[in-house]
Amino acid sequence: MSIELSIRKVVIPEFVFGLDALNLVGKYAQNFGAKRVLLVTDEGIIKHGWTERVCNVLRDSHIAYSTYSDITQNPKDFEVMQGMDFYFTEGCDVIVAVGGGSVLDCAKGIAIVVSNGGNIRDYEGVDKVTKPMPPLICIPTTAGSSADVSQFAIITDTSRDVKFAIISKTIIPDVALIDPQTTTTMDKELTAYTGLDALCHAFEAYASVANSPITDLHALYAIKLIFDNLPHTINNPDDITYRAAMMLGSVSAGIAFSNASLGLVHAMAHAMGGLLKIPHGCCNAHLMPSIVRYNFDAIPERYRQIANVLGLIQPDTSDENVLKALDAAILQLLQRCEIEVGLGRYGLQKDAIPRLADAALNDPCIATNPKIPKKDDIIHLYESVI
Ligand SMILES: [Fe+2]
Repeated sequence: MSIELSIRKVVIPEFVFGLDALNLVGKYAQNFGAKRVLLVTDEGIIKHGWTERVCNVLRDSHIAYSTYSDITQNPKDFEVMQGMDFYFTEGCDVIVAVGGGSVLDCAKGIAIVVSNGGNIRDYEGVDKVTKPMPPLICIPTTAGSSADVSQFAIITDTSRDVKFAIISKTIIPDVALIDPQTTTTMDKELTAYTGLDALCHAFEAYASVANSPITDLHALYAIKLIFDNLPHTINNPDDITYRAAMMLGSVSAGIAFSNASLGLVHAMAHAMGGLLKIPHGCCNAHLMPSIVRYNFDAIPERYRQIANVLGLIQPDTSDENVLKALDAAILQLLQRCEIEVGLGRYGLQKDAIPRLADAALNDPCIATNPKIPKKDDIIHLYESVI
């Protein structure tokens, strides 16, 4: 086994993992000296009661809060800016985010513009956020985005209908309170899409040219956990053991991708998610098989390791058969998640593809893909998933 010896920096926030971790929100808010918390959440999470659980803890800790919940799937630039206005109007000094990836990313966006000024669109790209954010406590309610441990935030630019990535260690939350119970209220579809998003994070981090021994460890562990537990979680939504395994898979994948970055699946998904307005994990799930096939010849040994961890191959299996085994395993997992590859039904049309390919080429996630594609390659890949 060879070990990558080039310098690699790994940044992971403080996090607490386990049942009732969210009950610690009062203590952490007190530690940050909170006078008034901006509680960022959405209507779905309010309906499922998780926001109220957090409010009760804040009240018990004598911490005032103001709730901002005008957030939609694939959070929009104007939702971030409205949240910033609300933060200042209410006189907040700490942010607590309770929700899935959209809520956590919007909270990060609010925190960025609160301390750095301007418009959230000014921060697209890598290392554009210079000033520290107000304290940010994240409580994830999905097992997938890992925005609670990552240095990524994805926001929709409504002027271009494109999702853009903000990548900066400045936006890593101060603490994540990761309580697997919060994921028990996800429906089947959301469980599948968020779980497959986490799987893509792990695959892309492991395949990334910025991989490291530490990110590899987490990526391989996440891949194994997700393959072993996602279908069971979908079929047994109240089983906390499966939910915890998926949450652990998501955290591990998050640690991996936050530090090794991502690849072509995410670059193409970001481009598409702004236009089709479908869940991020749905875009990823449909793209993943084609892109593993496309990337395979650049890093066959890395994909062999993944296939090995999943118990799919023997030491003497040829590269060709490693790819076949891995491809079959991914397609079988998608099938068990009731996903049939094809984005035409969500409105992906051939004439939109050149524009999507341009957006994907401009996405920072493409820089760490093991193979740098030309525009025609990306067009062909989009066409393969219509
Ligand atoms: Fe993702």
